[in-house]
Formats: sequence, structure tokens, C-alpha cells
Amino acid sequence: MIRSIAVGLGARAYDVVVGQGLLDTAGERMSPFLKRRRTAVVSDETVWGLHGARLTAALQHAGIETHPVVVAPGEQAKSFDGLAALTDRLLALELDRGDVITAFGGGVVGDLAGFAAAIYKRGIDFVQIPTTLLAQVDSSVGGKTAIDTPRGKNLVGAFHQPRLVLADLGILATLPQREVRAGYAEVIKYGLLGDLAFFEWLEANGAAVLAREPAALTRAVSRSVEMKAQIVAEDETEQSRRALLNLGHTFGHALEAETGFGEALLHGEAVALGQALAFRFSAGQGLCSSQDAGRAAAAIAAAGLPTKLSQLPGPSSAQRLVRHMGQDKKAEAGKLTFILTRGLGDAFVARDVDPEAVRRFMITEGAQP
Ligand code: NAD
Ligand code: GLY
Repeated sequence: MIRSIAVGLGARAYDVVVGQGLLDTAGERMSPFLKRRRTAVVSDETVWGLHGARLTAALQHAGIETHPVVVAPGEQAKSFDGLAALTDRLLALELDRGDVITAFGGGVVGDLAGFAAAIYKRGIDFVQIPTTLLAQVDSSVGGKTAIDTPRGKNLVGAFHQPRLVLADLGILATLPQREVRAGYAEVIKYGLLGDLAFFEWLEANGAAVLAREPAALTRAVSRSVEMKAQIVAEDETEQSRRALLNLGHTFGHALEAETGFGEALLHGEAVALGQALAFRFSAGQGLCSSQDAGRAAAAIAAAGLPTKLSQLPGPSSAQRLVRHMGQDKKAEAGKLTFILTRGLGDAFVARDVDPEAVRRFMITEGAQP
């Protein structure tokens, strides 16, 4: 089954198409957006090695010339150096304003290629073909693009919406199981933040999603994209409601910073643990019941994702974690912004969280002072 979900942004509206086998139809689906029959496809070595020939053939079938720009896999590509190398390649290809960049990979490629598209010759169109579960349910939708700096993740970027997103569920067949789990952390996020019925469906069907059973995967990805599309349409630039999508992220970013943004703790794993912490912190503040916090953590743990600091490779320092949270883009005037919750499916934005309360909470969670 193929589903098309509209992101309703007026003149910048676009469709997120979800289904099996979409890669083979990429040429026809992208054609309406191309003024010239060519596209620069930004990908990483792993994705390009596994699926590049199929995408090239699909584009060729529609008479579209493919110019691959392949970067090394991993977060390091999302850097000023990575951006400089990429834009240089695009200039060498003589891409002009009427051309389209295709981001073919996970969230790293999507964020990097999307940001390059936002600034290349003051902005050109791009299409997202996300190849990880995380990218399909989250990063390819909504137009956030960015690179990292040594001071933190995603600190330099732009809102730049794609013209089309093609989420081919079949392409997830080659994704390592750890990456599937990491993406699932963002799927469960949608249930936890605003859809109790979806959360309950995931409690019952999470194993089928993780096993990549087509029907379960279709429902999980479609519902996630629907929720994200609706939130983005209401609040494109995160003035209010879009911040709900950051459930688990303030804790998660701090944990990623503490563990060095790498293989030790993947982004999705950090978000999983961050969500369990956000629920327990909310319960500790008397905002939600500890039963709900327990149920959220149980669903995350059932997916093989971390819910406790003790599952991290090394000890954590509460003071350092809170300092990382203070550097988060969401921090304002000595207070921290968190997405807290009144219960399953009922998250809200709390803009005045006392850093000292968070530090004490992290100690109860097992962090060193
Ligand atoms: P990623 O892009 O690094 O991909 C993970 C790994 O999977 C890579 O090694 C990649 O080569 C490999 N891979 C990708 N697709 C594959 C496939 N089909 N088969 C086999 N291997 C495959 O990581 P990610 O988790 O997709 O994305 C994380 C990034 O996304 C972070 O930089 C994060 O900041 C960003 N992000 C952005 C947003 C947003 O709204 N823009 C939202 C969430 C996350
Ligand atoms: N991943 C959070 C957002 O897109 O707003």
C-alpha cells in the first residue's frame, strides 16, 4: 500500500509518500520538480554502495542524469568541512537554481544536503529519499537542516522544506537492527507526545515494527509522518507546538554530548533514554503518574532501547549534563526548556525548568554530582 501524506505549508506544501518499492518510481515522481533532466544525488558510501545503482537506474528510466556526490558515513559529515566539500562538488557540477539536489541517506545526509540546498546559490530545491527509519519518520519531514560545530549539534542551519519526500519502506531491509531500534525511539515519541491510541498500538505491535513486517511498518511510519506533518503545518519554525517533537531531546542531547556524539550512544538511543527520563522527571514533579512513567519506560525497554543511565558505557556527571542542557538551543535566561508530560500522549512545553531541580533528579537517576 502506498500512502501520500501532505505537509500543508501553502506555497511550500509537499507530499511525503510512504510505501514499499518507491525507489523504482523515483524518476517519475521527481520529474515534475526538475527543470533540467539531471540531479545531484548526495548519499553516503554505505547507502550508495547498497542502493545507488537502483536509484540511478530508476532515474535513468525517466531520462534523468544522476550525478552522485558520496560522503563518508557518520555524523562527522555534518560539519563546516563537510559542507564546504559538498558545495564545492555542487559548484563543480555547475548545478544552477533550476536544478534539484536529492538527499539519499539517513538523517546525516538529509541534514547536510538539505542545508547545502538552503544556501547553495541562495537556495535551490531538494528532494528527500530517507533510508533510515529515523529519517523516514522524523528528519526528512519538516525542513530542519543543519550541521554541527565543535560547540554542539545542529547549531548552524536553516529551515528549508523539501519539494518531495519518498520513504521507501523496502529500503530499510538492509538497515542494521541497532539503527532500526534507534529510529523506533522517534516512532514511540509520537505516541508518547500526543496519541495514546498509537502508543497502545505500539505496545502491542512494536515487535512487528522492529521485525520490519510490512503492514506494521506502514502503519508506524505513516502515523508518525501524519503527526509530524500536522505539527509542522501548524508551527513550521518552532515558535510553539513544534517543540513537542523534542520530547526526550534535551536530556538526550546532553547524554549524546557526554558520550561524545558517536557509536557509544546513537541519537535515537539518547532520545529513548531521554524520554524515559522526561517521564520520570515529570512524575517526580507531580505532573504525571509514576504508572504512566513506568509504562513509557517499559515500552522503550521492550524495543531493546536504554531507559537508565546505568546502561551507558561510562559514569555521567549531573553537573556536566545540566551544563550541556544549558547550551541547548532551547535554553533561555538561566531556565531550561523541557518537554514534560501530564501522562501518556499528553506532552507539553515547560519553559521555566530550574536547572538545580534537574541536577538533583539526575543524581537520583544515578549520575555523579
Ligand atoms: P545516519 O544518517 O548516520 O545513518 C545511520 C547509519 O545507517 C549510517 O552509517 C548509514 O550509512 C547507514 N544507513 C542508512 N541507510 C541505510 C540502509 N538503508 N541500509 C543500511 N545502512 C544504512 O543516522 P540517522 O539516525 O538516520 O540520522 C541521525 C541524524 O539525523 C543526526 O545528525 C540528527 O541530528 C539528525 N536528525 C535531524 C532531524 C531533523 O529534523 N532535521 C531530526 C532527527 C534527527
Ligand atoms: N526533530 C524535531 C523537529 O523536526 O522539529
